Amino acid sequence: MHPLEELRDTALAEIAAATDDQAIEAARVRYLGRAGSISAWANQMKSLSKEEKPLVGKLLNEARTTVTAAIEENAQRLRLAKEAQDLATIDISLPGTVVEQGALHPLTQMLDRAIGIFRRMGFALAEGPDVESEWHCFDALNTPADHPARNEQDTFYLADGRVLRTHTSTVQIRTMESAPPPIRVIAPGAAYRRDEVDATHSAQFHQIEGLYVDRDVSVADLKGTLEFFLRELFGPDSQVRFRPHYFPFTEPSFEIDVKSKALRSGEKWIEVCGCGMVHPVVFEKVNQARKDAAYDPEKWSGFAFGLGMDRLAMILFGIPDLRMFAQNDLRFLRQFA
Ligand code: PHE
Repeated sequence: MHPLEELRDTALAEIAAATDDQAIEAARVRYLGRAGSISAWANQMKSLSKEEKPLVGKLLNEARTTVTAAIEENAQRLRLAKEAQDLATIDISLPGTVVEQGALHPLTQMLDRAIGIFRRMGFALAEGPDVESEWHCFDALNTPADHPARNEQDTFYLADGRVLRTHTSTVQIRTMESAPPPIRVIAPGAAYRRDEVDATHSAQFHQIEGLYVDRDVSVADLKGTLEFFLRELFGPDSQVRFRPHYFPFTEPSFEIDVKSKALRSGEKWIEVCGCGMVHPVVFEKVNQARKDAAYDPEKWSGFAFGLGMDRLAMILFGIPDLRMFAQNDLRFLRQFA
């Protein structure tokens, strides 16, 4: 056996016997390093005879490749062994930490859907505070002091005379006070009334207010907009009914009922919306607050609506009792996740 082959075999044996990274690294330096014994043969090549050169060159190459491969193989073997050892100390039968995934509340889901439909029709979002002045809640909306809605039995008054808004129509006034026509906004939010709480009444509920003011707006625009909205929401099979009604701030006024076989409420008509054409007196009150004549009732007309979001969600999801929205019962909420 050529001495170079012997050298190679010693190197391989040493590497195979290595039990840690340092031992392998030491072997690499000893044989393949710049001053290593296999490298030493390469340095000697010059001084070898013509006959010896090809043989030594071949053996040198072979020794280098096999030793290099052995080093890599054994380093890998050690890595795997260490990993297995580390894992052996971990108790894989221990239960993991479950990451609970949240979901949107059914009312929020309902709201997102409704807002999406109105946005496609070009409505922008507007907002106002829950704690309101009587002006924004009543006076500017042509609701006189002797109107039952203003009764203490029906409304939450604060000590300073402000009220928890009884409807989101307050945002109609705020929007018009702050910007001239044309206006096309929706305002989703909470409203409060001193209602006796039962399956269909709550002291806090949610509405989407809508206001559209432009030149030549007619009842046809109001009907078209709300019918489109309700069909988008409840499906093309749903029926929509407009009933004459009274609100101080719209004239004429309507209530809208919806019925659809596809809905879990089935054959019953359900009232979901109050609406009408903005009353000229409302425009005049707004002008009075603005101290200008931006909303000249001779030039501008508009419609407004207030959709009961809790009602809509009850119909859409087949929820029998309004109180379920606020009870935080996971068995209820999980059904909408
Ligand atoms: N604010 C009314 C209510 O809460 C609904 C409504 C809004 C009616 C806008 C007409 C126009 O009952």
